[in-house]
Amino acid sequence: MSFIKRFIEEMPKAELHLHIEGTLEPEMMLALAKRNKVKLPYASLEDVRKAYEFSCLQDFLDVYYLGMSVLLTSDDFFDLAYAYLEKMNAQNVRHVEVFFDPQGHTERGVSFDTVMTGLTNAFDKAKRDFGISSKLIMCFLRHLPEDSAFETLESACKCKSYIHGVGLDSSENGHPPSKFERVFKQARESGFVAVAHAGEEGPPAYVSEALDLLQIKRIDHGNRLLEDGALTRRVADSGMAMTVCPLSNKRLQVVEDLSNHPLRKMLKAGLRPTINSDDPSYFGGYMNENYLALQTALDLNLDEIIQLGRNSFLGSFMTDKEKQKSLDDFDLFTQKFR
Ligand code: ADE
Ligand code: ZN
Repeated sequence: MSFIKRFIEEMPKAELHLHIEGTLEPEMMLALAKRNKVKLPYASLEDVRKAYEFSCLQDFLDVYYLGMSVLLTSDDFFDLAYAYLEKMNAQNVRHVEVFFDPQGHTERGVSFDTVMTGLTNAFDKAKRDFGISSKLIMCFLRHLPEDSAFETLESACKCKSYIHGVGLDSSENGHPPSKFERVFKQARESGFVAVAHAGEEGPPAYVSEALDLLQIKRIDHGNRLLEDGALTRRVADSGMAMTVCPLSNKRLQVVEDLSNHPLRKMLKAGLRPTINSDDPSYFGGYMNENYLALQTALDLNLDEIIQLGRNSFLGSFMTDKEKQKSLDDFDLFTQKFR
């Protein structure tokens, strides 16, 4: 095995852009469909995998919402999240900040409490079993109306100690951040930190709106902000992290090929990109597979990999003390490895 591959696999790292519903592997999808008597349009694992050809974000989202329809009980959410955390332990991921989409469940009659119970039990167990720390970020689905987001925020306020932040995901084009300005204001006033998917498929103006109107503290994706030089300088000067998702970008045709991925441009522009998996079961890889695919495609060198690993902790929402401890551990690892 090459030196850099082993380095990537063993490097301690944090994942900052992961939709827990996007970790639903086809095997678990079919098993839960059987357990919960949910009808899916797939007769076999092969059928499921065949559905995973996407020409754009919306193509994927249709399959993603269908997949999550098998999640009904808190045990289902526990099993889903714990399976992800076991994989992260095996990949030396030490900290995760995880999105969930409550409206994708409450719209189907699954209660907010059912989702929270399963997820929080899994994250607590992973802390005990593996020492993996975590934060939950609740996303508003941007294709739904503002009213539904306000209702969801009300539920989140009842379990505030378990939810660190709010995010914005789902169909980007046609649903600008401005649609959610008021609900984000209320969320921030209630103590949630704000993030948003912006500039994945949408224009740089959506990134500016997310910064100005939603007052986000981290940009999810952000690829297209590079089209605007002044915006690029603004984000670089702010030191704000971006959660970049290489295999997702490839599978959703955000980039034609990983060899055209803008990651190195981001580093050269002084931005703070991090590597993440987004929806790993749909896009063909978890954290290490994302690092490895991009390292190979762009021939990233060790210093660049180290920068990306450090960024994952620097860009996290850990306390300064937790960050320092993680960075000290990270630096110790790199010194020993060399
Ligand atoms: N929901 C799950 N994955 C997403 C993505 N990559 N973009 C927007 N919404 C999502
Ligand atoms: Zn995402």
